[in-house]
Amino acid sequence: MTVLVLNGPNLGILGRREPGVYGTASLADIEAALVPVAADLGLELAWIQSNHEGDLIEALQDGADSAAGALLNAGALTHYGLALADAIRAFPHPVVEVHLSNVHAREEWRRRSVLAGACAGGVYGFGPDSYRLALLALARVLEGEGR
Ligand code: DQA
Repeated sequence: MTVLVLNGPNLGILGRREPGVYGTASLADIEAALVPVAADLGLELAWIQSNHEGDLIEALQDGADSAAGALLNAGALTHYGLALADAIRAFPHPVVEVHLSNVHAREEWRRRSVLAGACAGGVYGFGPDSYRLALLALARVLEGEGR
């Protein structure tokens, strides 16, 4: 089973982007750490990063038949990406929202996620470990669905 791991705007420069907030691990480091976790769960990852909302929407549309679920760190699209929220609703599998930082402990505008209501749940605030915890949660949801 394949799990999409979708990463939105500015996540491609992790490691050198505000390291005090997001840490020093690059997105490739986070992916490399997640691959064996996925393998232990019998899952394969399809890793995507784009600065463009439409690419993330197309990845969900294209993955509707081939993927079992998705992790989504939408970056700032989290807070205003209504088309992405609709794409999650149209995606026929569970999506888990992921954030490296604790979005509720930062600026007021980061507290609102327009995606959360379309997702199965979310993990935020644990740095790269948020991805691992989100994958474990998604695996449980898929197991509960008998997959
Ligand atoms: C983020 C939080 C967002 O508010 C921000 O715009 C990001 C990263 C996180 O992973 O903590 O780009 O999604």
